[in-house]
Amino acid sequence: MRVLSVVGARPNFMKLAPVDRELVKRGVEHVIVHTGQHYDHGMSTAFFEQLWIPAPDYHLGVGSGSHAQQTAAVMQRLESIVVELAPDLVLVYGSTNSTLAAALVAAKLQVRVGHVEAGLRSGDWTSPEEINDVLTDRLSDLLFLPSRDAADHLAADGVPAERMHFVGNVMIDTVSWALPQALALDAATRYGVTGAPYAVVTLHRPANVDDRAVLGELLEALARLARTVAVVFPVHPRTRQRIRTHGLRLPDDGRLRVLEPLGYLEMLSLVAGASLVVTDSGGLQEETSFLGVPCLTVRAGTERPITCTHGTNRLVLPKRDAILAAAEHALARRSPARPVIERWDGRAAERIARVVCEDERFELDAPLAATPPHASRRAVAIPQPLGAD
Ligand code: UD1
Repeated sequence: MRVLSVVGARPNFMKLAPVDRELVKRGVEHVIVHTGQHYDHGMSTAFFEQLWIPAPDYHLGVGSGSHAQQTAAVMQRLESIVVELAPDLVLVYGSTNSTLAAALVAAKLQVRVGHVEAGLRSGDWTSPEEINDVLTDRLSDLLFLPSRDAADHLAADGVPAERMHFVGNVMIDTVSWALPQALALDAATRYGVTGAPYAVVTLHRPANVDDRAVLGELLEALARLARTVAVVFPVHPRTRQRIRTHGLRLPDDGRLRVLEPLGYLEMLSLVAGASLVVTDSGGLQEETSFLGVPCLTVRAGTERPITCTHGTNRLVLPKRDAILAAAEHALARRSPARPVIERWDGRAAERIARVVCEDERFELDAPLAATPPHASRRAVAIPQPLGAD
């Protein structure tokens, strides 16, 4: 069996790593295509090295551009590879432009598509990830769900139940795999925040960084937060570029440590020891929930509501005072216990491989020995974001 995985942006790589291992273990010929959407060493190669992902078989070198340019370039450069290799399945990951572009190419060539992390919805049609998710799910034959609530979204979009496989969360496979190595790194010492509570911050979503006023307010919130707790802020290239073009200033006064993007292990090491994470990343909402680290997500909504209902996540609007009040509250509380979320157990990629290679099914209502008694069958409504009037 030949499976072709297409990845391109940073969050795709953590999802690919465990799937690659499980497919290869079963003797699948696994071909990896890197679109080149992310190309800096710190945004791409570092992840392949640290997560033991083999070097890509093909590199499309697409690079940055508008959404249409990026999507079109991936499609044009990928098509001939899919034609030539005629894979049995094309796997796509997450919700990036590379994900949608690859799903479109495969579907139009009548090649089966599998979507890892299917069924996530924020309900925010202004978010590029939402558009990518909805369309990729529609194009997919195998939909691999990280949590139960995804099934409701897919059913509402007319996806038949037999295409859905509730496999769990591949991001947690990677966290579980990498945690011992990450802890051994002791990144807190390396970045000078050991011995006292510290917060880790990441921001990169267009809604938070593209508008000058919003970004300015967020930077001010971080500067203020750094008066009460040390703050480590690895800055995404998009955010760094926006800070420059908006003529804003990144405060770096010792208590707020501004860094380049970090490798996966360094980041995991820092997050695991943090007292608080402030972010707009999808993956960090999941990782902090798994690790039991309080997380403030600077967004009006989330496509990962289970991190709010069962995990450690709380939504907060991009308003300085709301963020500071929420941070103060989170820092004053005792650390939450590590939550248990259904099928976030380090075995999601194994289930994906069993679906792909052995035609197994992971239906939503199959009884589960590993299901904790308090895990809900359906996600419930999440609290209003803090700072909402
Ligand atoms: C993309 C994904 C987003 C994901 C994020 C993680 C889409 C629509 N968005 O957003 O879902 O959460 O990746 O990072 O696919 N840049 C560099 N070096 C790089 C990559 C990017 O300097 O290696 C800069 C470029 O100026 C580029 C900008 O960052 O224009 C944005 O990169 P892009 O891939 O277009 O989107 P992200 O914001 O990273």
